[in-house]
Parts: sequence; structure tokens; C-alpha cells
Amino acid sequence: MGTTKKGSLIVVGTGISVAGQMTVAARSHIENADIVFMGIMNKIGEHVVTKLNSNSVSLDDLYEEGKSRALTYSQMADRIVQSVVEGNKVCVAFYGHPGVFVTPSHEAIRRVQELGLEAQMLPGVSAEDCLIADLGIDPSRYGCQSYEATQFLFRDYRIDPHMTQIIWQIGLAGEATLSVLDANHSQSGLAMLADILAEHYPSDHELIIYEAATLPLCEPKIEKVMLRELEFAKPTLVSTLVVPSKGMPAYRQDRLAKLGLTEQQVTNYRNPTLN
Ligand SMILES: C[S@@+](CC[C@H](N)C(=O)[O-])C[C@H]1O[C@@H](n2cnc3c(N)ncnc32)[C@H](O)[C@@H]1O
Repeated sequence: MGTTKKGSLIVVGTGISVAGQMTVAARSHIENADIVFMGIMNKIGEHVVTKLNSNSVSLDDLYEEGKSRALTYSQMADRIVQSVVEGNKVCVAFYGHPGVFVTPSHEAIRRVQELGLEAQMLPGVSAEDCLIADLGIDPSRYGCQSYEATQFLFRDYRIDPHMTQIIWQIGLAGEATLSVLDANHSQSGLAMLADILAEHYPSDHELIIYEAATLPLCEPKIEKVMLRELEFAKPTLVSTLVVPSKGMPAYRQDRLAKLGLTEQQVTNYRNPTLN
């Protein structure tokens, strides 16, 4: 009696730079899959994956100008889940970390697991990881808040200007229809973003529009703009905005007192350059 092959899903990231940031585990899963679906948005990255496994299929054909990305993402998940149900060992490779701002990866994993089949995600190198390295920002220093640009505009977030702010997808800031595929429509969104930030920072606060290098030997783009200039910036679809901290918040004397500590003591324990 023949055994029916059970399908499975592994979702991996290729890193931001197509050469060198793919983990050994991700590479091995790509090589050993029956089929690899790619959401890499980059022809060179697709070439790298296809060289590892010739049965690699891009998901990018599902994007269309004017079509809601919500629909595109659900169709990506459909394609992935269908292949697992057919009994394939499926690997899906997204650029960066496959779980950072990637709706279809989470959706496909959830649906495959609901069917009682195996599905797992491996971590990858995200834009935020590159940013920490290129800009020398350690999240432990000031703390960090991270948002999607349009949600940042639409929702009543509590912004703490003492923390580093990382604002993703500024090239699509304010784009509510999810149906635009270029960054030419973000000017009014950026102006509103600047207004919100101006409630917390001075107009000469220096911000960084950051693009990690996607090719080996290329440099990252690190554009410094003052807050008052932000609305005139021309971000791309891969720009991330970094708003550096205003500095550490004051100590909570009441909490120190409860622990029997003084500000002087805790300052001495820390690296003095961090205060
Ligand atoms: C759909 S999300 C994908 C993020 C990706 N999964 C990751 O792990 O970084 C796209 C957003 O990620 C950020 N991003 C993608 N590539 C980037 C790059 N090369 N440099 C800086 N930010 C990038 C931008 O904010 C962009 O709008």
C-alpha cells in the first residue's frame, strides 16, 4: 500500500543584501524543497534562489497597480497553502526577515497549521538589523518604537520622543487603499507625519531616511534631513525613517527610592557616556 506524501511549509528570509545575508539554514531549506515560492522583489535575489533550486517560482506576478495588496497577499497565501496540500515540501523565501511586515508568510503558516500540517518560520536579516549596524543604533540605549507609516498617521499611538522611532514604509505614508505600487503619492502623508513628529521634536531635529544596501559592495543610503524638511523628501518603497532620540528620560525618583537607591548610585553603575 502506498503512503500519501504529507506536505509541509518552511518560510525563510534571504536577508536584505542578496549575497551574504541568507542564513545557512535558509539556504539548506531552499536547496531541499520540492518547490520554492519567492517574494523577493529583486531579480538578482531571485536568480540567487533559483540557482539553489531550479523549481523556484516568483510570487511577484500577483502584484498589480490598482489591485489591493490585501488581495494580493491572500492570493499568495492561497498559492502556498495549495501546494502544501498537494503534498509538496514547500519553501517560501521572502527578502529580509520573512516575518517582518510580511502578511502572507504569517497567513500561510496559520492556515497550514490549521490543516494539521507542519509549518515553521526561520528568522532572517531584516532592514532593522541592517539599520542597527549601519547607523550604530543599539535599541538598548534609548529603547525603540517601531511602526508602519500609514498606521502611524491613522492611529492614536503614544510616541515617546526619548526612544528611537523607526517608521517603516514611509514611501507609502497615508496610502489607505493598499493599491499603489510606487512611492510618488506620499507627499501629503509625509507632511502629516512631520506635523505629528513636530508635536514632540524641534523643527531642526535631525532625522535619517535610510536604505540598506541590497547588493554586495554597495553602500547604504543614509540621508539626513531636518524635521522641517521631511515633507519635501522623496522616499522610495524601501526607505525607512529613523527619528533619533531626544536623549534619556529623567529618572523616576519614586521608583529608585522604593528600591533603596539614589540617582547618584545608579548613574555610577552605568557607563557615564550613556546618561
Ligand atoms: C513590506 S516591508 C518588508 C520588510 C522586510 N521583510 C524586512 O525584513 O526588512 C517593506 C519596508 O521595509 C523597509 N525596507 C525594505 N527594504 C529596505 C532597505 N533596503 N533599507 C531600509 N528599509 C527597507 C522599508 O520601510 C519598506 O517600506
